Amino acid sequence: AQTVPMSQALTSPTVIAHRGASGLRPEHTIASYTLAIEMGADFIEPDLVLTKDDVFVCRHENDITGTTDVAKHPEFAARRTEKVIDGEKHNGWFTEDFTLAELKTLRAVERLPKLRPDNAKYDGQFEIPTLAEVIALAKTHSTNGRVVGIYPETKHPSYFAQIGHPMEARLVAQLKAAGWSKPGDPVFIQSFEVNNLKRLHTMTGLRLIQLMDASGAPADAAAPSYAAMATPAGLTAVARYAYGIGPNKDLIQKGDDAPSTLVADAHAVGLRLHPWTFRAENVFLPPSLRTGTDPAVHGRLADEITRFLDLGIDGFFTDFAYIGVDARAAW
Ligand code: G3P
Ligand code: CA
Repeated sequence: AQTVPMSQALTSPTVIAHRGASGLRPEHTIASYTLAIEMGADFIEPDLVLTKDDVFVCRHENDITGTTDVAKHPEFAARRTEKVIDGEKHNGWFTEDFTLAELKTLRAVERLPKLRPDNAKYDGQFEIPTLAEVIALAKTHSTNGRVVGIYPETKHPSYFAQIGHPMEARLVAQLKAAGWSKPGDPVFIQSFEVNNLKRLHTMTGLRLIQLMDASGAPADAAAPSYAAMATPAGLTAVARYAYGIGPNKDLIQKGDDAPSTLVADAHAVGLRLHPWTFRAENVFLPPSLRTGTDPAVHGRLADEITRFLDLGIDGFFTDFAYIGVDARAAW
């Protein structure tokens, strides 16, 4: 696995703010990232897609229909279109059909308004951030000995390459311009796609994380299934290009099942584990508790995180960074 100088060891286990403080603000907004930093997260996670003019912006998918107010903009009505992306049919609006200037006229909306009604109160207030803005935010808050890192994920890199917007060189260049190119720098790059990570491995020394879902296979041709990747032989192959894995937490322990051997198997080949996603609402809570600030929410999510810390994970993605920070402190 990739090696990192000991002098630049991480705070461990590492708390990664999934899409920012997305349990409490619309995801992938500066407000969401800023709140996560204020909560004490070590890293903030921007998912990345590209605009028509090749600017990285922070969205979970290039289809912006569900997380922006684009449908309310008559000037963009004609851009609604149907596309197949990684085998899934979409009907909506897509970042690659908008310049950054155009995207900046849109405003974020909450993805899960029924589950997170308090977040939906912020609908229409926040812009779509760029990667450059997220880098600046992390650096601004990296003061007085604290380092706030970024944990970008390339979304649909094969698809973007096919439509003439390859991601790797652009991302590596932008991070290098920010001063980040070495394993000890406060950056992890994550992807579900194997070839994307292998290309990045030839281009940068930054730490790479192979994401693994609980079923299926990466979108890039000839990649092994996630099940094959999770075997000792599969993990040995991943360790040739990655620092660690980002597994769906069910791959480590699903519900009350006995834990798998994934933590031990990954550690045996030098890979760290950063599972996702620790969130409160839809996992154990009745609707009356789905605010993310209720003590019962805090306790139950903290218990789950603690259980995974006991299993030996090296970090974790959570929508509620403050609960993760508290759980780690108490562990
Ligand atoms: O990147 C870790 C986790 O975020 C992967 O799932 O769909 O939330 O990007 P997703
Ligand atoms: Ca992600």
